[in-house]
Amino acid sequence: MKISTLLALVTLVGISAMGQEAAKLYQANCSHCHGNKLQGGSAQSLGDGVWKFGNSAGYITRNIKFGITHLGMPAYEETLSEREIRVLANFLLDAEKKSGATQAALPEFLQTLDYDIKVEVWAEGLDIPWGLTFLDAETALITERTGQLRVVAKGHLYSKSVNGTPEVLAEGQGGLLDVAFDPNYADEGNQWVYLSYSHGLELQPNGKRAGAMTKLVRGRINGNEWADEQVLFEAPHETYRTTRHHYGTRIVFGQKDDLYFSIGDRGTGAHAQDLSKPNGKIHRIHRDGSIPRDNPFRHIKTAMPSIFSYGHRNPQGLALHPKTGQLWAAEHGPLGGDELNLIFPSINYGWPLITYGKNYNGTSITEFVRKEGMQQPIWYWKPSTAVCGIDFYPGDLFPKWKNKLLVGSLKYEDLRVLDIEKDRVMHEEVILKNAGRVRDVVCGPDGAIYVVLNDPCTILRLSPMMKK
Ligand code: HEC
Repeated sequence: MKISTLLALVTLVGISAMGQEAAKLYQANCSHCHGNKLQGGSAQSLGDGVWKFGNSAGYITRNIKFGITHLGMPAYEETLSEREIRVLANFLLDAEKKSGATQAALPEFLQTLDYDIKVEVWAEGLDIPWGLTFLDAETALITERTGQLRVVAKGHLYSKSVNGTPEVLAEGQGGLLDVAFDPNYADEGNQWVYLSYSHGLELQPNGKRAGAMTKLVRGRINGNEWADEQVLFEAPHETYRTTRHHYGTRIVFGQKDDLYFSIGDRGTGAHAQDLSKPNGKIHRIHRDGSIPRDNPFRHIKTAMPSIFSYGHRNPQGLALHPKTGQLWAAEHGPLGGDELNLIFPSINYGWPLITYGKNYNGTSITEFVRKEGMQQPIWYWKPSTAVCGIDFYPGDLFPKWKNKLLVGSLKYEDLRVLDIEKDRVMHEEVILKNAGRVRDVVCGPDGAIYVVLNDPCTILRLSPMMKK
């Protein structure tokens, strides 16, 4: 654990031995989802005074012990002792009382091995920004997970979001997720914009929702209106899941009029191995939603024809290598199992039958890290950084980083540069740290690196400092 984080937590609760034990337990078991400083992450903040499932020590203890498993909160009764669970519950209640910890100030510049970098806030006042795509250096679209599509035009972020975009299920990890301009956007009659999001079925008479799944559409922006919408991918509704996590997803264009997108396992690992299910897969379709003739499972009757690769847990980073055209994917693993994969058609990436990670409550998922017929990751992060968006750097402003891979992480709040030769990671350097949870990283048309942050909800622009 980072000493600074431990200290931050200890100052929240006082420097008692009990406080230290609690901070350690919290870091090891809970920070992955609830944030390093209780501020929230893939699960909600535990320091904001809002207790949806009961605010007394008794309720909190019970929630930790038995979990809220249908929502993704694991049960700890097997892995923590009664006493440890009590220590944690008291720690959360104490921390809430003493909170008021503030975010570290943003650095004005960064030093890395190759460059001194200027850091600027490029967009702020956003509501959980999730995806970013550029048309040119001054024109961009940003998704907010809560459902809004925001426009940057002439370098200016408009306060009004686009009207009429699809209704999304903004719950748990779901909502409006990725966005992309068509690579031929400027061609006459094109002007397509692609969106991926959590699509929820109607509420039933009993007030329950029959489920939700990742869905993909394209449409055009006319004035400030979403228009001409076409559904590109909507899974059969019987495959929809009632869980609130692991939707994926990123959209990336291939070189043959095709596009790739990912869907997480929606909390059911076994589905990642089931070719009749959409979850736990990377899919490939044509830009109009039709199925490419050379998709690997097209001729298997029981398989979904859009599936390109399977055995994935929750891929939230996808990028095409600028030189080889190969598809790379980063996926959230369980504790200690975040992966970087090189994606080939028809290949099984093994989740949940093989993994380097463990369940969040410390129990093991499988004893296997490799198996015949299942692909090994190119790289894995242990401990998990909660790896998110990735992008290859094309090399204009930072020539020494040409074709290197930028990788963002939510939990470690950092941005890394990976030097990759063929299929091997030769070197990894952290270039930005503790500015916020890194949701996505995008190389802009101007050569700058744009970093989409949650907590604070801003987008940073990184450019080289000019030598005097
Ligand atoms: C795998 C992710 C994950 C981990 C790890 C995790 N939680 Fe949770 N936790 C959740 C989710 C998801 C919820 C429910 C959020 C929702 O949908 O409202 C939750 C809810 C809770 C709640 C109820 C909050 C409320 O509003 O009443 C408490 C308390 C809690 N977690 C404590 C802990 C503690 C303590 C640990 C570590 C021992 C921990 N959690 C580890 C995901 C996680």
